[in-house]
Amino acid sequence: MRYNLISNSLFIKNRKNFEAQMKPNTIAILTSNDVKHNNADDVMGFTQNNDLFYLSGIDQEDTILVLYPDAYKEENRAILFVRETNEHIKIWDGEKLTKEQATEVSGIERVEWNSEFETLLQYMAFEADGFYLGHNEHLKRVTKDQETQQDRMIKWCKQKYPLHEYYRAAKITRDLRPIKSDEEVAQIQKAANISVEGFKRVLSACKPNMKEYELEAELTYELTKSGGTRHAFKPIVASGKNACVLHYNTNDDVCKDGDMILLDFGVCYANYNSDTTRCIPVNGKFTERQKEVYKAVLHCLKEGSKLLKPGTPHADYEKQMASLVETQLIKLGLLNADEVAKQDPKKPLYKKYFMHGTAHHLGLDVHDVGLYSRTIEEGMVFTCEPGIYIPEEGIGCRLENDYLITKDGNVNLTEAMPIEIEEIESLMNN
Ligand code: GLY
Ligand code: MN
Ligand code: MN
Repeated sequence: MRYNLISNSLFIKNRKNFEAQMKPNTIAILTSNDVKHNNADDVMGFTQNNDLFYLSGIDQEDTILVLYPDAYKEENRAILFVRETNEHIKIWDGEKLTKEQATEVSGIERVEWNSEFETLLQYMAFEADGFYLGHNEHLKRVTKDQETQQDRMIKWCKQKYPLHEYYRAAKITRDLRPIKSDEEVAQIQKAANISVEGFKRVLSACKPNMKEYELEAELTYELTKSGGTRHAFKPIVASGKNACVLHYNTNDDVCKDGDMILLDFGVCYANYNSDTTRCIPVNGKFTERQKEVYKAVLHCLKEGSKLLKPGTPHADYEKQMASLVETQLIKLGLLNADEVAKQDPKKPLYKKYFMHGTAHHLGLDVHDVGLYSRTIEEGMVFTCEPGIYIPEEGIGCRLENDYLITKDGNVNLTEAMPIEIEEIESLMNN
């Protein structure tokens, strides 16, 4: 592992909380993700299933976690199935977890090779009334054309045990995962710290006529050097009007003198993520107009982030953020106050320049699981990311920080990342 192992007390606690929400006499089965394939024999790499990781800490393919808290035999109450190594695997891929190591990582006493899974499950299924199965549930799930290991487990299990009750494990994890433990916040903070250093590298490297991907390389260098696993998502390095394309990530354009660059990037460390956005002038000095737009967005970030505190309904936060941005758009001369006063509330005019949400849960997923009908609570981690996009002026500006919700307000986990205009200009010119 590139990262320092997380204490298994986190996973023990997570399992206890998960089991407390299971219905009586049910079994939960969580599987790892597939290793994703590219063309021919090339593999894209492995990303663990986040629910499995949350409940076990195991970061290895071909893993199955079975929880049966009401099992008659104590030894069947939690079993971790891992891949048995052999000479071939050792020679080509290296070591896999031993049973003892899997116990150390997860805190689960009973570890078996996954070849035992079907036989052992048969005993438990006979005794149980239902199953909780994992599934990638997300508001914007776009992987419906790719069969996952979870999909295969659902199919297999329902065929083998058609008369058991079936429940969604993700319904429990989406309830638990939004509230972060101290150990989890520490990982997000570590990811954020690496992002800060990456951004500082960008500030010193940036010069007119560089390619956007050269700045991406600075971020990649820092995250790899610091033990980050991967980018949290493909970084967006968007200069000039490219910044108005919200998911721009080809990063293959030239950074032109006089343009501003939007960088939206994150680090994945120990499977936890940061997610930050900064905007910088290519030549080290913002133009007057860029400054106006930047200050407007920074104002929204500073004021809007104050609403990220316990008790705020998420919808209220988004509404107030929209109102903050709307006011700034009028000040910038982009919207007319009279027209705004008369606008159809279902089609607000600000959407022309500001078209996305500005706070999502952050954790094992960048857009982490959690219901937005739930009021903001202590222990949640949210991004705050207002933006203003003016394609006709070639300016797109978004600023994004990560906040831990505390008892009375929040803590900015990305405080160390330069954001004030003077600070950015000074760092770029030294
Ligand atoms: N970069 C993805 C986001 O900011 O939500
Ligand atoms: Mn982002
Ligand atoms: Mn974000």
